Amino acid sequence: MPRFIEKKLDRNAPCWCHSGKKYKVCHLAFDEKIAEFRRHGARVPNHKMIKTPEQMEGIRKSAKVNVAVLDYVAEHIREGITTEEIDRWVYEQTTRAGAIPAPLNYEGFPKSVCTSINDQVCHGIPSESDVLKAGDIVNVDCSTILNGYFSDSSRMFIIGETTPEKKKLVETTREIMLAGLEQVKPWGFLGDMGQVISDMAHENGYTVVREIGGHGCGVQFHEEPWVSYVTKKGTDMLMVPGMCFTIEPMINMGTDEIFEDADNGWTIYTADGMPSAQWEIQVLVTEDGHEVISW
Ligand code: MF3
Ligand code: CO
Repeated sequence: MPRFIEKKLDRNAPCWCHSGKKYKVCHLAFDEKIAEFRRHGARVPNHKMIKTPEQMEGIRKSAKVNVAVLDYVAEHIREGITTEEIDRWVYEQTTRAGAIPAPLNYEGFPKSVCTSINDQVCHGIPSESDVLKAGDIVNVDCSTILNGYFSDSSRMFIIGETTPEKKKLVETTREIMLAGLEQVKPWGFLGDMGQVISDMAHENGYTVVREIGGHGCGVQFHEEPWVSYVTKKGTDMLMVPGMCFTIEPMINMGTDEIFEDADNGWTIYTADGMPSAQWEIQVLVTEDGHEVISW
């Protein structure tokens, strides 16, 4: 069976991670450990998915802007504003920091941020005609490019008072996302996280969107691996130090079935019109666990 094998480096060649050290004293043992997992049938990351210290620094700086933009949204979001207004805040705060909103013109996306209200699962497009009203739950998904490095995270906001059911969905979805985070450590599997997330969602009577997931993020907006939250413990890709990806499960109060807005080609809705919630963080796998980069 043909398979992709990364070119073997000479032991005395400079390491692929650009540390300037010889391969044999840098990432050779690390690569051998990964190869051992592959021999046992695991899906393993390639070098492109493993960030160098320089790339990590760039991604952290980008995330600092992203977090500040979401903090700004958190301080100003309220009943009566339009999602167009949120879009303006995000554009202004991001560009003022010398960065670019990653969604703007991304595969034709027309705005700087995604705003998804109630039964909108994700990729809601800000609009002058969407006025936030009391009881709405809204996800604001911000992504930033700074010096070519990408960051991505999203938060839920409750406008005024909402129903106990919607409040519980929002709060529990955050706890589910954080329970998934606890599974992120080197030499574990992405499926360890998927299992915990889907189990906890089902225990609460919720469903998990299957078709849309998380992704590697940092050097590009959406990189490999694609991250599912309906996977099983011990399956899917091996996690190793230096990988950077998002945890962003979409949790539905009703059916997991979804559909795409045929008019705009972007916005995803729940099929039954029930609410959906999502929190997104961007994490880096470290030597002994994880580092949350954007939230
Ligand atoms: N921020 C979204 C994510 O979490 C991606 C949105 S793509 C866009 O992956 F074009 F809609 F912005
Ligand atoms: Co994302």
